[in-house]
Amino acid sequence: MGIIEVSDVHKSYNTTAVLRGVSLNIAEGEFVSLMGSSGSGKTTLLNVIGALDGVDRGALHVCGEDLHQMEDGARSAFRLRRIGFVFQFFNLLPHLTVRENVSLPLLFLGVRESEAHRRAGEVADEVGLGDKLQRPIHQLSGGEMQRVGLARALAHNPALVLADEPTGNLDSRTGTTILELIRSTARQHRTTVLMATHDAKAASFCDRTIHMVDGEIRSEPAH
Ligand SMILES: Nc1ncnc2c1ncn2[C@@H]1O[C@H](COP(=O)(O)OP(=O)(O)O)[C@@H](O)[C@H]1O
Ligand SMILES: [Mg+2]
Repeated sequence: MGIIEVSDVHKSYNTTAVLRGVSLNIAEGEFVSLMGSSGSGKTTLLNVIGALDGVDRGALHVCGEDLHQMEDGARSAFRLRRIGFVFQFFNLLPHLTVRENVSLPLLFLGVRESEAHRRAGEVADEVGLGDKLQRPIHQLSGGEMQRVGLARALAHNPALVLADEPTGNLDSRTGTTILELIRSTARQHRTTVLMATHDAKAASFCDRTIHMVDGEIRSEPAH
């Protein structure tokens, strides 16, 4: 069974159809890119897979759970426990330290502060920030901020990491470092990663690529 099983999912905002019969299957441990131009529906699809948003119709199973049938409370609990998010603009709290930012998802899960801080140190080490735990985020470079973003996404050992244009705000060399880090940490933890990008070079770091055009999946890139 796939860790992500999406079948004929539809979603509209007001009268605009944004997902128009999307189906895809992703197996555990895969690193998959979701490629498509701006407005094609990538973020919307990540949001429904990550239980941040609902769908209008279709079937949606993630980590063996039927998200479409889930109540809002159960959906939030599922998201906190099973999913890690990495964002283009990092979405970190700038005046908190690296350690505090990485600890946040653990604290939301009810982990004691001392244990959350210990675990944050461990995962910050993995992304090469072990010596910057006490630094406030606003003193870091963009590449370092995204390392923190990745550490925060991995802190609670999620089954699935959803990365939305994680290198979109980084220069090409820093982006490459981050992509290599996503790939190596995901492999080490056997974490599945679905990454939205409009950059073919970023997609080349993945095991395979799913192409999205106007709210639909295309198996081949559109010419
Ligand atoms: N909350 C929203 N309300 C209305 N329209 C939205 C909303 N979110 C996205 N859209 C529209 O859905 C389409 C797909 O957007 P999005 O999923 O963000 O695409 P991508 O991430 O590929 O750029 C766009 O036309 C966008 O304007
Ligand atoms: Mg987007």
